[in-house]
Amino acid sequence: MHVHLRQGAMMALATAQIEAGGTDTVLVMPNLSPPITSVAQAVAYHAALQRLAPAVTFLMSLYLHPTVTPAVIAEARASGVVHGVKLYPAGVTTNSAAGVLDVAAYHAVFAAMQEHDLVLNLHGEMPSTAAGAITVLNAEAAFLPQLRALHAAFPRLRIVLEHVSTRQGLDAVRRCGPTVAGTITAHHLWATIEDWCGDVFAYCKPVPKTAEDRAALVRAVVAGGGNFFFGSDSAPHPIQAKRGGADGRGATAAGAFTQPYGPALVVQAVAEGVRNGWFAADDVRLEAVDGFLGRFGRSFYKLPESEGRIRLERKGERIVDSLKSGDGAVEVVPFRRGEEVMSVHWVARRDGRTEDVTVAES
Ligand code: DOR
Ligand code: ZN
Repeated sequence: MHVHLRQGAMMALATAQIEAGGTDTVLVMPNLSPPITSVAQAVAYHAALQRLAPAVTFLMSLYLHPTVTPAVIAEARASGVVHGVKLYPAGVTTNSAAGVLDVAAYHAVFAAMQEHDLVLNLHGEMPSTAAGAITVLNAEAAFLPQLRALHAAFPRLRIVLEHVSTRQGLDAVRRCGPTVAGTITAHHLWATIEDWCGDVFAYCKPVPKTAEDRAALVRAVVAGGGNFFFGSDSAPHPIQAKRGGADGRGATAAGAFTQPYGPALVVQAVAEGVRNGWFAADDVRLEAVDGFLGRFGRSFYKLPESEGRIRLERKGERIVDSLKSGDGAVEVVPFRRGEEVMSVHWVARRDGRTEDVTVAES
């Protein structure tokens, strides 16, 4: 329930990995260049994605921007394809320059979203400050009062705190009512500061935090409360962008690419949690992990249950070193390249197909 599929050759590459990775429904982020700020753009993007992967359900989102007015919210609801509106505080991540400077300026839009029952998706980080009171390490914790204020002002508005990365973020969601949920990525179940500080392919926003935060996120999956569900935030970047641009002298781009492996990485992170002693094997219930990967998110987004079923098997598969577009022009390196990963087997699909789709074949 949170993926970046991009445009052009990268869009074709990333979209081909949705079913290969064991997923049949995705909420697509709008931070394209230019961002998706109109319903017409969202409808056109939806059609392009649907042509690439006819069996996948694409839920679209709009990028919150001054041109997104209450009238646009009504139009978005009527379109049937737009399910959420993403709030990026300006400057916190990839393509967020056109994001929100003042949340209060959007209260009429939030009121319309509450009325039309669209979801508000929050990138919950405050921008870093020059004086250093806010850095990437406390940016999420510093944002949480805004989550509480929005929930208090719009108690019926469904709000998702995206890619929760801290214990404080988990607690803030737990203290809100049932209209507030949090997504958790696969990479935040695996990574801590140690991983991204030396590896551009693990660098993402919000940055993974401490070992305690990581353990708390895995425990939230195992708890299976229904208020946290999978949002992979799979965010592919061309290898050159990760390595500082064409001349290699620029900054790296934030984003971990996990689209081919999301459910497998989640299940393996839970197994790793048992090995790390964060909980006992007996504490892990299939309903909790299965709910996290599918049912809880579908229920929050008011979607019918999926008939699709996957089985994950240990067959010695390894995460590929990189994936390339058909013409070889775009190359993307996945998170945890080279590590062992469970293989995806579709047991049942919504359209009745049962053949294997693997990363290698697609
Ligand atoms: O790491 C990230 N990458 N975090 C985001 O919020 C955006 C994303 C991207 O679009 O690359
Ligand atoms: Zn994202």
